[in-house]
Amino acid sequence: METSFLGLALAATLILQFSTPINSSFSATTSLPSRNTYIEYIKTSCYNSTFYPKLCYHTLVIYASTIKTSPKLLAKTALNVSLINTNSASRLMIRVSKIPGLEPRVVAATLDCLEEVGDSVYELQRSMEEIGHAGGSDFSKAMSDVETWVSAALTDDDTCLDGFAEEVVNKKVTAIVKRHIQRIARLTSNALALVNRYASTQANLP
Ligand SMILES: *[C@@H]1O[C@H](CO)[C@@H](O)[C@H](O)[C@H]1NC(C)=O
Ligand SMILES: *[C@@H]1O[C@H](CO)[C@@H](O)[C@H](O)[C@H]1NC(C)=O
Repeated sequence: METSFLGLALAATLILQFSTPINSSFSATTSLPSRNTYIEYIKTSCYNSTFYPKLCYHTLVIYASTIKTSPKLLAKTALNVSLINTNSASRLMIRVSKIPGLEPRVVAATLDCLEEVGDSVYELQRSMEEIGHAGGSDFSKAMSDVETWVSAALTDDDTCLDGFAEEVVNKKVTAIVKRHIQRIARLTSNALALVNRYASTQANLP
C-alpha cells in the first residue's frame, strides 16, 4: 500500500517536473516572439507573394531582427536591398564602359544602361523615403506613388537588358551586364510585391 502511494507520488513529481518547463517554454514563445518567428515571417511572406522567393528570403533573412513581423519594415528593407544592389550595378556599368578597346556599340549600350540604372536608383530612393512617412489619410496616395516608382525602376532594368539583348558583339560584357541587371530586376520585382502586400494589408485593416 505504502509503496504504491510512493510510486504515485513519484510519478506525479516526474510529470510536474517534465510538464513545467514545457509549459513555460510554450508561454515564452507565444508571449514573446522569437527570432524563429521573425525568420518564419520573412519566409512565408517571400514564398506567398514574390516571384523569386529564394532570392527574397536569402537577401532579407539577415535583417530579421530589424524587420520582426512588420509588413512596412519588410517592404522598406526589400527596397533598401534593391537600392544597394542597383547602386553597385551602376558602379559596375561605369567600370565596364571604361574597359579599354571596347566596341563603340557596346560602350553606347553600357552608357544607356547606366542612365536607366541611375533613374532606377533615384526611383528606389524616393520610394524608400515615401514609404518611411506613409501613414494616416494620405496612406493610399503615398503607396500608390511608391508602387508607380518601383514599377518604373523595374521597367528601367528591363530597358537596360533590352539594349543588351540585341548586342551580340561582345559576349563577355553582355554576360556580365545581364547577370547583374537580372539580379537587380529580380530584387526590384520582389520589393514591388512586398510593397503591394504592405499596401493591401493596411487597406484591409478596419
Ligand atoms: C501565407 O499563405 C498561407 C496560405 O494562404 C497563409 O495561411 C499564411 O498566413 C500566409 N502567411 C503570410 C505571412 O502571409
Ligand atoms: C539600408 O541598408 C544599409 C546597409 O545595410 C543601412 O546602413 C541603412 O541604414 C539602410 N537604410 C535604411 C533607411 O534602412
